[in-house]
Amino acid sequence: MSDAADTLRERAAELRARLHEANHSYYVLDDPAISDAEYDGLLRELKTLETEHPELATPDSPTRRVGAEPAARFVKVEHLGRMLSLDNAFSLAELEAWEERNARIAREVCEAGYVAELKIDGAAVSLRYEGGVFVRGATRGNGLVGEEVTANLRTIRGIPLRLRSPGVPALLEIRGEVYMTNSGFRELNARREAAGEPLFANPRNAAAGALRQLDPRLTAERPLHFMGFQIQTDSPLPVKTQLDVLELLAAWGVPTNARRSLCGGLSQVMSFAAQAERHRAELDYGIDGVVVKVADLSLWPELGAVGDREPRWAIAYKFAPDLATTRLLSIEINVGRTGTLNPYAVLEPVEIGGATVRLATLHNFADVARKDLRVGDLVVVKRAGDVIPQVVEPVVEERTGAERPYRAPDACPACGTAVERPADEVAIFCPNASCPERIFWGVAHFVSRGAMDIRGLGERTVHQLLERGVVRTFADLYDLRREDLLTLEGFGELSATNLLAALEESRQRPLSRVLYALGIRHVGTVAAQLLARRFRTMDGLLGASREDIASVHGIGAATAEALAAFLAAPENRELIERLRAAGLTFEEPVERAERTPLEGRTFVVTGTHAMSRKELTLLIERHGGRVSGSVSGATDFLVAGADPGSKLEKARGLSVSVVDQAEVERMIAEDAAAVDTAPGEEGTS
Ligand code: IVH
Repeated sequence: MSDAADTLRERAAELRARLHEANHSYYVLDDPAISDAEYDGLLRELKTLETEHPELATPDSPTRRVGAEPAARFVKVEHLGRMLSLDNAFSLAELEAWEERNARIAREVCEAGYVAELKIDGAAVSLRYEGGVFVRGATRGNGLVGEEVTANLRTIRGIPLRLRSPGVPALLEIRGEVYMTNSGFRELNARREAAGEPLFANPRNAAAGALRQLDPRLTAERPLHFMGFQIQTDSPLPVKTQLDVLELLAAWGVPTNARRSLCGGLSQVMSFAAQAERHRAELDYGIDGVVVKVADLSLWPELGAVGDREPRWAIAYKFAPDLATTRLLSIEINVGRTGTLNPYAVLEPVEIGGATVRLATLHNFADVARKDLRVGDLVVVKRAGDVIPQVVEPVVEERTGAERPYRAPDACPACGTAVERPADEVAIFCPNASCPERIFWGVAHFVSRGAMDIRGLGERTVHQLLERGVVRTFADLYDLRREDLLTLEGFGELSATNLLAALEESRQRPLSRVLYALGIRHVGTVAAQLLARRFRTMDGLLGASREDIASVHGIGAATAEALAAFLAAPENRELIERLRAAGLTFEEPVERAERTPLEGRTFVVTGTHAMSRKELTLLIERHGGRVSGSVSGATDFLVAGADPGSKLEKARGLSVSVVDQAEVERMIAEDAAAVDTAPGEEGTS
């Protein structure tokens, strides 16, 4: 091997080691060693190296964390030994009964002590390591067989792709919980709300849903974390107690929960649980109890399991949910940007789990009807961890007859337009695109940080502008004059100058931001970026059919449908033209090299190649080409490897050029040479 190749290999190894170390500092030691920007820089460098030299890629490379190709479906895999679930206890008496039953099987149980851990409210997964390298991960499934979600699990930075330190058995599975932080959950839901997407009910559902995404790139967008608590292997391990297991996991570089305790007996377990419950609200993740495990591992086989499903050596001590009863004062409605009417409860203020609750979600009108909630009812309200308070049910026995049954409105409370009830949805919509509430939230979204990011335009200002009729749609924002602004409450010369400058600056936002800002149903930040990368310009998108849109990797049928419908509506076309006239860029910059040999060409990759399809895709995209999932009239090249399948026939039918990987590499090299000598269009076949 040449010296140059050696140097590259060494650099790749060094980058990998530094990235592994950075992850370990961040997720296991909870002590970040480098900044996010530095991390991204190292990752980018490694990605470039591996793309240009695929032979340098390794299965444990941190580059493999970023979304792989979407899967068609999940594959079922067998766990290394059953993944058990836990029996529950709700009181000290129930814990004592558990201890007594165990003592009848193994007398030493009472003296052995217990390890108490927090019961994390997430989704159970099993991670398989071979030779210390993460090779496969699966959901719990039925305990014996789970669904293989390796690509999704790889995107979780806390999961080590390679275990540290010697003494790692050749084959093992690490069991643990994938969860979403409360703060991450809030941000995710805020993004979804902005995109008009349905919200997740709680962090657990969001985490479980993210794991079961067929497209790992979507999983990568979700703030997921992992904590391990069990090792499954046939090899002997240097551990005597469950505490040793947790310490060994930590030594291997697996995140574990530092909140754990070796308890002499059940009374100590109870105080650990009481403390956990007191601190529950301060944790940034949901817990629903404490798991109590017999500390001495040598007793576990003897204790065995009940019906092969629940081990006797562990039990979940569950917290009582945080409930309170209070009066339902009224049912109010928010009208969202996309027209959805969202009911919520106004409550007589009540203390639940240390917080005062005044408002609670009512999910949707079908739910209100199902629970038969009446205004004036005494209602049970639940606050689970950080989740938005919910109205559980009315206390029917307390009714006096003065309560008023509730009927969902037939007209929008904001504009009076008759509502629509799509047959396949529980939601009720205001169809009026000029509804003042919809417009208000639409403008607020347009100027928001993830969208056009127009600073100095808070909700109050937006409200005033709409109220005075200076602004009717967000396109009007670009016609604002200094005189208009100076008449607004709280505006002076300086704030007017700043806002005008912010508006001016926002004209340069890339197409992806504009697409997101338009507030099209289902088009969130991720979809907007995928679309902008694919079509590059607004005109490119305007010329696309629903099929073209649906052929973009990561864009689902619902999004394609909503976007095509939006673009087809004359009033939206007009809006877009007004934004164009206002001087918006409407272009997505090509992020990479100034020279992009494959620019403007659309590829479809099929079959088996020397490099993985993902790598080939990255290579094409890095050089400015577009990669689409299916062959259509817009396809320029089909890159066909071994076993190309039906795409090859389709390509031939449409007279699409068929090339192989080597040809793609030649196009890139030739173009580079051409640019060096005589820049210009060269033949392509
Ligand atoms: S030990 C015996 N420890 O709770 C099976 N489980 O309700 C191993 N869980 O499937 C369970 N935190 O997904 C254990 N510290 C913890 C846990 C924990 C959360 C989950 C786990 C399990 C479920 C049972």
